[in-house]
Formats: sequence, structure tokens, C-alpha cells
Amino acid sequence: MHSFQELSEKINTHFNTRHFPETPATLYEPAEYILQIGGKRIRPAICLMGNELFDEIGADAYHMATAIELFHNFSLIHDDIMDKAPLRRGMETVHTKYGESTALLAGDVMLVRAYDYISKIKPDHLPKVLQLFNKVGREVCEGQQLDMDFEQKETVSLDEYVHMITLKTSVLLAASLQFGAILGGAAGDSQHHLYEFGKNLGIAFQVQDDYLDAFGDPEKFGKQVGGDIIANKKTFLMIYALETASAEQRKELKRLMQENPADKVTKVLQIFKDCKVDAWANELKEKYLQTALQHLEDTAVQSVRKKPLTELAAYLIQREK
Ligand code: IPE
Ligand code: IPE
Ligand code: MG
Ligand code: MG
Ligand code: MG
Repeated sequence: MHSFQELSEKINTHFNTRHFPETPATLYEPAEYILQIGGKRIRPAICLMGNELFDEIGADAYHMATAIELFHNFSLIHDDIMDKAPLRRGMETVHTKYGESTALLAGDVMLVRAYDYISKIKPDHLPKVLQLFNKVGREVCEGQQLDMDFEQKETVSLDEYVHMITLKTSVLLAASLQFGAILGGAAGDSQHHLYEFGKNLGIAFQVQDDYLDAFGDPEKFGKQVGGDIIANKKTFLMIYALETASAEQRKELKRLMQENPADKVTKVLQIFKDCKVDAWANELKEKYLQTALQHLEDTAVQSVRKKPLTELAAYLIQREK
């Protein structure tokens, strides 16, 4: 069995070679840029792990892993436009460096390239893989729209937040694992439990992402800290603060969201701290992690084979970037 680190190194080497033609360089250089500036490669690695649970890692799993990372990077380029984000992976975002129109097109062509890789998969598994991939693609769009809709809403419930992050983030992690399992010949029941493991882990993963967006170390995080606060994102931090703050602090939070003063991030962070969001973040991550691990336990595979997934789960919710 391979560890997450071994797999992500393999995938990094793979993305250091070109995936696009030379010309027009104005289109393909931005696509190569985002692929080569790093990234944790979680989704392709989890696809290969799902495959290795059932067999040696096969060629189709590599094709699928490549398609998934292309899709993920396409979604990040477009997400950074939506979120007006200046930084990604410690570097300039694609639209900041190359302009919005090129960023849109570079993202589009990466999605098309993802389908090229999927089309290499052997015909017996292809219909199932395509159906799941298309479902995830639609769901990510739905989640991204909800995320933007919530910026305009004054209050959002925790259930609505969990629904939104499930769509924008978790389903891709869940499906990545299921793709690997499908290609490894897993039974339907195992596929179901692995999908649910990935989905619940994905929720905890996004909770950590939202936590780091507020409290991450700018040196390590690689993205603009405070970006979610600036954009009035209804993360669990804001939802919890709005629910538990004093009447005065709640009024202040609402004013800060409406007026966007220069000291907004500092002031919102202070209210988050006063509300003890740290403890709440841990509680939330733990809840989804435990549900995830139960599904992994219920997967009909020898437990020694599950070790890389258990280790990955622990890392994902404690990570600093
Ligand atoms: C960022 O995903 C987008 C989210 C869903 C939070 P990652 O944190 O996996 O980003 P990279 O690929 O490692 O940069
Ligand atoms: C992004 O969520 C999810 C997708 C790209 C689909 P975020 O907006 O929180 O991701 P980051 O923080 O920019 O990586
Ligand atoms: Mg974003
Ligand atoms: Mg976003
Ligand atoms: Mg984020």
C-alpha cells in the first residue's frame, strides 16, 4: 500500500510534465501554471487509494486521477474569480496574473482536457464513471452558486451551510474515492461506504479550510487570510458567532458586513475569538470525522489496507495549508 505522501509525490511529478499544447501560449501557459505551482493533490491521491484498496493501482485509475486534478484546478481558477482572490498556493491567482477572460478560458479548456483522460478508460467502467463525474460537476456548480447566494443573505443556518459545502467540496472528494473503487472492481456496498466516508471527510475538510481562512498562518496557508470575512461568506465561523455573540456584538457583526470598513477583518476575528470558535471548529470536525471513520470501518476490506485512508483523514482536518 502507498501512503498519501508517496502518492502525492508521484502525482506532482506527473503534473510537472506538460498537459497542453505549446500554442497559443496565451491560453495554455496559464493552465500549465496552475498545475505546476503545487497543491496537495488530495483528490487524485484519494482516487489511487480507492483503487489500491481492491487491486494494484491500474492505468485507468491514473487516467481518472489526472482528470480529477484537472477538474479541481479548473474549479479553482473559476472560484478565484468569483471570490476575487489574489493568492493561491502562495502565488498569484490565474486571473490576477493573466486577466479574467483568459482565466475563464484556461479553466474551460482544463475541463475539456479532463474528459480526454476519462475517454481513455476501458469501456466496461466508462458509463458509470461518466455518470458520476457529470453528477459531481453539476453539484459543484450548485454548491458554488449557493456559496455566492449566501454572501447576500443576512443569516444562514448550519444545515444550509453543511448542504452548501457538501455540494461545492465534499462530493468531489467522495466521488474521487468511489472512482478508484469502481475501477478496482469494488462491490456496490463498498462503493457506497467509501463515498460516504469521502463525503463526511470532505465536510470536515471544508470546515478546516474555513477555519484556516480566518486563523491560518499567512506564511503557510498560501491564500489571502481573511478573504472569507471580506466577502461576507457564511462559514460556520460566522454562523456560530451570529448565534452565540452578545446582542451588541451581533449588531457589530452585521454593521461590519454591511459597511466593509478597513478594519473589518481584525474586528470580525476578535468577535470570532470572543465566541470561542476554536472549540466549535474542533467539535464540528470531530463529528464528521467519526461518521466518516464509521463508514470506512463498514467497508468490506481488510483493515490493514485502510491505513493510508485513516492517516489521510487525520492529516486533512489538522493541516495548516
Ligand atoms: C481548495 O482545495 C479548495 C477547497 C475545496 C477548499 P485544496 O485545499 O485541496 O487545494 P490544493 O489543490 O491543495 O491547492
Ligand atoms: C472552493 O471553496 C470550492 C471549489 C473550488 C469548488 P473555497 O472558495 O473555500 O476554496 P478556496 O478557499 O478558495 O481554496
Ligand atoms: Mg475561494
Ligand atoms: Mg469559493
Ligand atoms: Mg476557502
